[in-house]
Amino acid sequence: MKVTAIGTGYVGLVTGACLAEMGNHVVCLDVNPEKIRILNEGQIPIHEPGLLDIVRRNVAAGRLQFTTDIDRAVNHGTIMFIGVGTPPDEDGSADLQYVLAAARSIGQRMTDYKVIVDKSTVPVGTADRVRAAVEEELAKRGSNLNFSVVSNPEFLKEGAAVEDFMKPDRIIVGSDDEQATLFMRALYSPFTRNHDRMIVMDLRSAEFTKYAANAMLATRISFMNEMALLAEKVGADIELVRRGIGSDPRIGYSFLYAGAGYGGSCFPKDVKALIRAAEDEGIPLRVLTAVEQANERQKLLLVDKVVSRFGSDLSGRHFALWGLAFKPNTDDMREAPALVIVQELLRRGATLAAYDPVAMPEAQRLLGDHGGLQLCPSAEAALEGADALLLITEWKEFRTPDFDGIKRSLKQPVVFDGRNQWEPALMKTLGFEHFAIGRGLSL
Ligand code: NAI
Repeated sequence: MKVTAIGTGYVGLVTGACLAEMGNHVVCLDVNPEKIRILNEGQIPIHEPGLLDIVRRNVAAGRLQFTTDIDRAVNHGTIMFIGVGTPPDEDGSADLQYVLAAARSIGQRMTDYKVIVDKSTVPVGTADRVRAAVEEELAKRGSNLNFSVVSNPEFLKEGAAVEDFMKPDRIIVGSDDEQATLFMRALYSPFTRNHDRMIVMDLRSAEFTKYAANAMLATRISFMNEMALLAEKVGADIELVRRGIGSDPRIGYSFLYAGAGYGGSCFPKDVKALIRAAEDEGIPLRVLTAVEQANERQKLLLVDKVVSRFGSDLSGRHFALWGLAFKPNTDDMREAPALVIVQELLRRGATLAAYDPVAMPEAQRLLGDHGGLQLCPSAEAALEGADALLLITEWKEFRTPDFDGIKRSLKQPVVFDGRNQWEPALMKTLGFEHFAIGRGLSL
């Protein structure tokens, strides 16, 4: 099939590349010429395991192309994915300007039937607004071309995006149009051959499903973070509690990790947008509001622990930070807890040396101007002469580091383990002062 992906970010690029891998002919459009330049030079502008190989293979096979040429992109696809950003507006609601601009650019140029697919995370009712925008543009041209609008929210996880797209748990399709549903079934059938994972529903329920899913996941994280605060006070170990409750199939093990708070391009903004949308309907979301507040607080927890250990004035103190991305296996630092931690430690007068396995270019872009922060070429280099180490992102390479080396490099063996990566008993044996999240009175 002929597919166009509008927006070549994490979602649009993965969608385009994976659909090309299944034999479709895909054109990816972006308004950012730098991204398209990088892609046309055989590189990818993001870090995503497995993606580069797929992109290169499909470009070489002539099934995947990248362009800034809107006419060419709109002309190409019968199925038009909109995968542009939906950042938070000032009031927290989702800013739909990029989605609607993409819809208009389709309406202005289309010359045949299109299935327009909202893949971006968008509030309930957006499909109607996309339809209206396209109709308006068609009317300006005196055209009454036929088109369909479908909602197909994306559930991929950064860091495992290719695998998630290739082997989806479910594919949600919101559609009130049989022809468009058939197109979507045909497009996704290679991904669901063994077991039909497509759930077709009405447009509004599909749009809602994405927000509800992210809200539920964020809720689990904030819930566990609060339990961890209490565990620490009453002398329980949240890691044992996690295993104890996760073994209940009604609860399950996923998303039960206490830590330094959730970040990323999705949870914070989607939680905010859902709260805001509900307010507009006169339905205050009390649970979700608390989830958000707890998370804001949690991002500062590591700093609180540093302050309890070293005092509130941190001038003259120097700390090593490991991990800046909002989670492992990505270079994405949007809303990362590390940003809050860096800012707060610098504000209190500390100097910092930071390292992340892949997010260093992104860190340079976002934090490069901070005088007190040094971005280091290796984890070891960041440790040199620091008063303590803060582990912020749980990259695998930090799981079993050279603890002797850490001890030798730090001024004193103090570590703040923001992701509960190291066993308190082991750290004690190794002679570390080990501060973790919710791991009992021993701390
Ligand atoms: P992103 O910010 O990485 O990429 C968006 C891209 O769209 C940018 O490259 C931008 O230049 C381009 N763009 C904006 N307006 C355009 C236009 N009119 N025409 C062509 N290109 C345009 O965003 P990301 O992370 O891929 O997210 C996209 C959507 O998918 C958001 O709604 C997000 O909430 C949702 N989503 C994101 C996930 C993630 O893990 N990043 C997972 C699931 C959903």
